Amino acid sequence: MGVKVDVAALADFHRLIERRISGEPLQYLEGEVQFGPIIVAVDRRVLIPRPETEYLYDLAVRSLASPPKVVVDLCTGSGALALALKTAYPGARVMATDLSADALEVAIGNGRRLGLDVDWRLGDLWEPVPSELSGSVSLMVANPPYVAETEWDHLPIDVRQEPRLALVAGPTGTEVIERLLDQTGTWLAEGGVAFIEVGENQARPIFERRNDIEVVIDQFERPRFLKLRR
Ligand SMILES: C[S@@+](CC[C@H](N)C(=O)[O-])C[C@H]1O[C@@H](n2cnc3c(N)ncnc32)[C@H](O)[C@@H]1O
Repeated sequence: MGVKVDVAALADFHRLIERRISGEPLQYLEGEVQFGPIIVAVDRRVLIPRPETEYLYDLAVRSLASPPKVVVDLCTGSGALALALKTAYPGARVMATDLSADALEVAIGNGRRLGLDVDWRLGDLWEPVPSELSGSVSLMVANPPYVAETEWDHLPIDVRQEPRLALVAGPTGTEVIERLLDQTGTWLAEGGVAFIEVGENQARPIFERRNDIEVVIDQFERPRFLKLRR
């Protein structure tokens, strides 16, 4: 008795194996990833959301004594943080920005598929956020690029399949983080809070230079988040 082989399915399978062997991350091949309460679609236009960023989502939710009115996710990529927060707080006005039109297309698609109303904006950090929201943001989250230009060549091959703009910030790696820290204070409402994800070797030196932030550890006990309060 012969075994029936679906030739087309076998060819698809071989193509997936070839893509994986060439270093393409598994999540791009699967096309989706779980993030907190939601599943988001991912492809080469966006960074694959990491477990540390999922922890940042938990951290943000745990830090809030009451549901936030206005939530902003800067550097949204696939929209994972904005969409998870909109799921947790359906009554909140949620806005998300990204400098990459390609990434924003993925985020918009995710929002549509999940039926979640997020206000997506193209542009640099806070620049596309309407000025009338200044002083009224209850929660800001950001996972900005934080890799130094010189580190790019040393990243694992599968990480280098992700968008360079999502990872590399500039010569030192802290350029975008520093701009976020300088810009965010005035946007926060009284009692508002901001969480910024950073590289594990970046948190302490930044903390030592500034007197307005706290360092928060991740689920692996590494200093990975900066917390700003108003
Ligand atoms: C590390 S990825 C984070 C994506 C998503 N928030 C996550 O955690 O999975 C950084 C994102 O920031 C975007 N980006 C880079 N520079 C930016 C800037 N100056 N303003 C807004 N977005 C920026 C990139 O296009 C990328 O989507």
